[in-house]
Amino acid sequence: MSLLKLADVTIRYGRLTAVRSVSLSLAEGEILFITGPNGAGKSSLLRAIAGVTPPAGGRIDFADHDVTGRAPEDIARLGLSMVPEGRDVFGSLTIEENLLVGTGMHAGERGWRARAASALEEVYATFPILKDRRNAQAGLLSGGQQQMLVIGRALMTNPRLIAIDEPSLGLAPNITDQVYERLIALRRQRALTLLIVEQSSTRAMMVGGRMILMRGGQVMMDGDASAMGQSEAMQDAYFGYGEH
Ligand SMILES: Nc1ncnc2c1ncn2[C@@H]1O[C@H](COP(=O)(O)OP(=O)(O)O)[C@@H](O)[C@H]1O
Ligand SMILES: [Mg+2]
Repeated sequence: MSLLKLADVTIRYGRLTAVRSVSLSLAEGEILFITGPNGAGKSSLLRAIAGVTPPAGGRIDFADHDVTGRAPEDIARLGLSMVPEGRDVFGSLTIEENLLVGTGMHAGERGWRARAASALEEVYATFPILKDRRNAQAGLLSGGQQQMLVIGRALMTNPRLIAIDEPSLGLAPNITDQVYERLIALRRQRALTLLIVEQSSTRAMMVGGRMILMRGGQVMMDGDASAMGQSEAMQDAYFGYGEH
């Protein structure tokens, strides 16, 4: 039984077709990398899954619901958390305030305090650095810490699936290693399903799992990340050798 299933999803911006008839499915607990060059349609696909940009065609099922065209907050409530590209933190708020905003936990609501406290404890257990610095302004954090913060924020609602757009962008390789270590631990501990967009396939090959290669809005390859890394066909699909 798949947790997420896309059937013939097409995404358009005006006359531009950014994603063309993409089908894929993702099982609970699985890790799927979506890789491919700039402009391939990776971010568009994530935004469609999260309900931010509704698809022009096709169907998206998540957690046994047809979520095509549903509002982002409805999809989030079913257990999908998205971490968009760019580490959008509220720079003047503290780390803890950043974790609490936008989680649907509102001060004053019955049971709010206990729920927020236990969600925070879980995030802090995953990212101890966020706990150490919980009263620091988020704007003062390093890029790696900000990435941990936005992933932490996505964890606050106890999701079944986290979709992350380019977590390693602009981070030093050793910092990226730390972020991935945490993600893999989360997957192991909580059977969290991971959908991760990365431009380069290197990370997918290091981590393993399944990998999809997109190019020009289409899925060119879908398979085992480490095996695909060695294939010449993948090099061709990625760089488009032989095409003019
Ligand atoms: N909001 C938008 N409006 C118009 N065109 C867009 C928008 N977002 C992306 N595109 C276009 O859609 C295509 C796919 O972009 P995107 O999904 O961002 O790819 P990727 O994340 O793989 O780099 C590109 O041609 C891009 O210019
Ligand atoms: Mg992108």
